[in-house]
Amino acid sequence: MQVLSVASEAYPLIKTGGLADVVGALPGALAAEGVAVRVMLPGYPAVMAALGPAETVWATQNLAGAPAQILSGHARGLDLLVLDAPHLFARVGNPYSGPDGRDWADNAVRFAALARAGAYVAQGAVSGWRPDVVHVHDWQAALLPAYLHYDGAQQRPSTVITVHNLAFQGQFAAGLLPAIGLPPWSFSLDGVEYYGDVGFLKAGLRFADRITTVSPTYASEICQPDAGMGLDGLLRERAAVVSGILNGIDETVWDPASDHLLAAPYDAAHLAARAGNRAALQAHLGLAPDPDAPLFAVISRLTWQKGMDLLPEVLPAILESGGQLAVLGAGDPPIEAAVRFAVANHPGRVGCLIGYNEGLAHVIQAGADALLVPSRFEPCGLTQLCALRYGCVPVVARTGGLADTVIDASPMALSAGVATGVQFAPATADMLAAAIRRTVRLYRHRDAWQTLQRNGMAADVSWRDPARQYAALFRELTG
Ligand code: ADP
Ligand code: GLC
Repeated sequence: MQVLSVASEAYPLIKTGGLADVVGALPGALAAEGVAVRVMLPGYPAVMAALGPAETVWATQNLAGAPAQILSGHARGLDLLVLDAPHLFARVGNPYSGPDGRDWADNAVRFAALARAGAYVAQGAVSGWRPDVVHVHDWQAALLPAYLHYDGAQQRPSTVITVHNLAFQGQFAAGLLPAIGLPPWSFSLDGVEYYGDVGFLKAGLRFADRITTVSPTYASEICQPDAGMGLDGLLRERAAVVSGILNGIDETVWDPASDHLLAAPYDAAHLAARAGNRAALQAHLGLAPDPDAPLFAVISRLTWQKGMDLLPEVLPAILESGGQLAVLGAGDPPIEAAVRFAVANHPGRVGCLIGYNEGLAHVIQAGADALLVPSRFEPCGLTQLCALRYGCVPVVARTGGLADTVIDASPMALSAGVATGVQFAPATADMLAAAIRRTVRLYRHRDAWQTLQRNGMAADVSWRDPARQYAALFRELTG
């Protein structure tokens, strides 16, 4: 079984969020299921630099107005097809925005080109290789099934679109249609038209053979108006082909027993070693070296989706219980400013690193007592999975994948010995503050707390089961 996976990021080559983790980890997990995955990525500078010796497998004089080629090669364990189109991707900045933080003005054309080239590959443009299934991720690759449809190819592979976040839809002005090479008649309700614009994600949801999202709960939530973000009607219409497959985490990247980034690696039998990591974390963020303070942490994009605007409001609940807060994240400037303000006002009790820092993310998982994930919606979420694996107790909003991956420490779950964290709903400041106070009470019962930690560490957060589900879906599609 040969799969072409098309996406805008893949760890460890280029990452802005969980999408990259998933795209980067799935090929390894699927290999164990007999599925070979080639990942197609834009040729950003970081990707071009990581690519080893590569072969040109396709070339054109005109992709979105300039020459482009597809390079085949390997990097960091991934079998890659890289769309080398310097006029679109050879830029300083991140995949979606420039150094000034503003989206690239030509994002529609950039990612349409990725999908366009991917659709050529799907139809055999790379000599000697044809995918059985094309798996596209999020709006950036979502036009691919639409191109296949309007190309009218006789022989085309089956397509799967995975929605990692319905909030990002790739909605652009209708006038772009000629520039992205779609025919005028594609601009209809049954085509790529979306509220008078062109909808990239809408097009993918319309034309892909199967639609998956990254948790069963989110799969049912997005079929309802509340979480459907304008696409619930289409998703309900296609409900028979919508399903949810949970994400896993890469257990070689996230393994507390062999994590070289930690002051003291440990396993579930040696939870005491977390104390060394906790001390290292406190020192790093300027927190008081208090061994008893319940240490809450956040590793997150600092955005409304993630409920990060609630942090200032719940700070009293943390501080009044003698706790500390460590924040690692970047995002909306007002939230960043609020976090910095809290640090300045509570020296030694609140610490932060505003920015992106993978090493510190590992130390936090290994050293903090509890991870706060108060998301207003969360397709899956990966940080709570890492937290489980590291014995950092997740405190999560009961939504999407958070609801599916954490078992609340209710009296019943505690006595049955299955609880792994704390859930609350809805994601409001009051409910989060109450959850924090409940977490502190659990924390003060050392035995119960350690049971929570050990249960979490024993939970299966690997890619094994999800990979089996993707492989089964691909097989179903190809008969
Ligand atoms: P999302 O993709 O919506 O941001 P996920 O929980 O799925 O949320 O994935 C986030 C990923 O990015 C995780 O691997 C997490 O550890 C990482 N991450 C988020 N913020 C930071 C940060 N500031 N520094 C380092 N890693 C981060
Ligand atoms: C998105 C979602 C997150 C999910 C990730 C990977 O960024 O916000 O919930 O875990 O994609 O699927």
